[in-house]
Amino acid sequence: MASFYVTTPIYYVNDRPHIGHLYTTVVADTLARYRRFSGDRVRFLTGTDEHGQNIEKVARREGVSPREVADRHAPVFSRLWESIGVTNDDFIRTTEPRHRAGVEELIRRIASSGDLYLAGHEGWYCASCEAYYPEKDLSDGTCPVHGSKPEWQREENVFFRLSRYGERLLELYEKGIDGRPFVYPESRLNEVKSFVEQGLKDLSVSRTAIQWGIPFPGYPGHVVYVWLDALTNYISALGFGQADSALYQDYWEPAEGRRAVHLVGKDILRFHAVYWPAFLMSASLPLPSQVVSHGWWLKDQKKMSKSTGNVVRPADLIETFGVDALRWHLLAEMAFGQDANFSDEAFVNRYNADLANGIGNTVSRAVRMAYDAFSGKTPDERCEDNEVRRAAEEAVAAWTEGFESYRFQDAVDAIRRLLTAIDGYIASREPWKRIKVEGLTPALARVHHNALEGLRIVAVLASPIVPGASGAVLARLGIDRPVSSLSRQDLAWGGLPLGVPLAKPAALFPRADLKAYLSAPSAKEKTVENETKNESAAPATPAPAAAPTPAPAAAPAEPRITIDDFARMDLRVGEVLAAEKVEKSKKLMKMSIKVGEEVRTVVGGIATAYKPEDLVGRKLVIVANLAPAKLMGIESNGMVLAASLPGTGEPSLLAVDPAVPSGTRVK
Ligand code: MSP
Repeated sequence: MASFYVTTPIYYVNDRPHIGHLYTTVVADTLARYRRFSGDRVRFLTGTDEHGQNIEKVARREGVSPREVADRHAPVFSRLWESIGVTNDDFIRTTEPRHRAGVEELIRRIASSGDLYLAGHEGWYCASCEAYYPEKDLSDGTCPVHGSKPEWQREENVFFRLSRYGERLLELYEKGIDGRPFVYPESRLNEVKSFVEQGLKDLSVSRTAIQWGIPFPGYPGHVVYVWLDALTNYISALGFGQADSALYQDYWEPAEGRRAVHLVGKDILRFHAVYWPAFLMSASLPLPSQVVSHGWWLKDQKKMSKSTGNVVRPADLIETFGVDALRWHLLAEMAFGQDANFSDEAFVNRYNADLANGIGNTVSRAVRMAYDAFSGKTPDERCEDNEVRRAAEEAVAAWTEGFESYRFQDAVDAIRRLLTAIDGYIASREPWKRIKVEGLTPALARVHHNALEGLRIVAVLASPIVPGASGAVLARLGIDRPVSSLSRQDLAWGGLPLGVPLAKPAALFPRADLKAYLSAPSAKEKTVENETKNESAAPATPAPAAAPTPAPAAAPAEPRITIDDFARMDLRVGEVLAAEKVEKSKKLMKMSIKVGEEVRTVVGGIATAYKPEDLVGRKLVIVANLAPAKLMGIESNGMVLAASLPGTGEPSLLAVDPAVPSGTRVK
């Protein structure tokens, strides 16, 4: 079985995640999902880069230790990825002992190749890049990436004999690995080539001016240069230099059908495509298969970055439109490899065009028509030869090609074209008219089948990009499967089950009102933050929600509560001892719930979704300090917590690990 190892850069813990960071992670997640879908064994790594001068500076400014800054900030990234369903298998922090073991082993190997020596050194140092720049590479005396003035630094450093590796690197760029270019896209490969062709100077790989780093083995008083430290994460996370290196052997040692791909922004290409393979060559270790580099997200035509102060934070957009809307936009808007400008207008317009009108409307219309015609079920006729099938087959081919060549825009376009074909098919067959004229004929059933089957394939194609929406479309089509179980076989025509219940038609992506969104104060002023005002590495407090028009799965724009407000709520785990439906009420269920030592009567509106026998013995969460209220004459002492499902509003009780004792506080 082929294996695919995909990594994001590890993010510095002196910044909070913005759209640029989110993009790399979303691309990696989309690729990981696509590869799993295609049957590969996948390992997906992300993490945080926690050493170096920048973190040390923040800590000094705040009067705390660098570790405190890192400990406070790393979870901001890991929690964000978790909250938006990123499927990373591991999250590495460079302050972990396993990482240090990997760095020490790599350095030991480099040292034994005779590639390290001590020498005096001075030059222009950009702290944001953590790199020295030769005078000629500065633009008007400033850093070419950050536009800030570098500092003149003088140190005695350990040097790595990078100059030895020019020839081998050029050969690597020339030949690629396993038939693929080492750097993608080609423009970036050429950039790297010409950098190496100009001649490589040895690289200083230790620092003495700072303390916050991994002590350099064999050189007391030196810490490991943050890039040598950080790059090693890709193998230390696999167990390199540690007792258990099974993952390393599995995902890094070359073997037939094995690929290891680093996804990076163009600003850090040189570190990944020049220094990293040179370190590995020196240590006689295998190289990654490919370094894939994307462009920058710009705001007002400048690179979005903390130092420029033009940062778009994802919190508002996700809260207002849902994470799928953002994933879709990021992949659709950026031609991979080139820069792209982020604009709220483009975001909302695309949301309306592709998601509200495109997927949302087409699914709602087709499901509604079939629902009405076939009494809430999918049609019971198949059809093998029709134009939707042909459009679907073309879409599958273009989508695959798009993914295989990192042209995500093409994959998105393929989905869009299939939707347009389905729309056109429905419009030309006019099933809503025909049912009145000819009744429910097998021919008409086939028309409905084709539309719904086409939409099933849309959902499958969309699954790596917008997994939430994909699952929602499948559910509408009566397919109850987690998107993670989908595979290439699901792209074959004819997978729609016949005669199974369809979900009640309900809107998927309500239309957004662009004007209202843009005029809501939080849309512009809070999403785009002026970071220069807030340079500290304080934990991310998500920006308050914008006040948009209807939003999918979005909370209404209400003021945030404080932690003290929240603390006033007493949430407890309860165990249902008995349950019965409240007579004359469709919704209400009366339950006896044990909360610690106490047994309470609680009435909840969950009878449409649960039978009494489903509830007895179940653990759930209740609001324990709610004032008593009478419901249909019964006094309820507390409230059970349940999610209200989008569209139907059906309750879904919060799950509690059965091992948690009743009465336990939830906070
Ligand atoms: N810590 C290093 C990476 C070490 S990897 C061994 C680093 N961290 S970073 O947090 O500054 O950047 C992480 C990634 O975010 C990089 O790939 C960078 O290109 C990307 N982006 C940061 N700003 C960006 C944009 N405005 N647009 C797109 N991506 C950009 O570098």
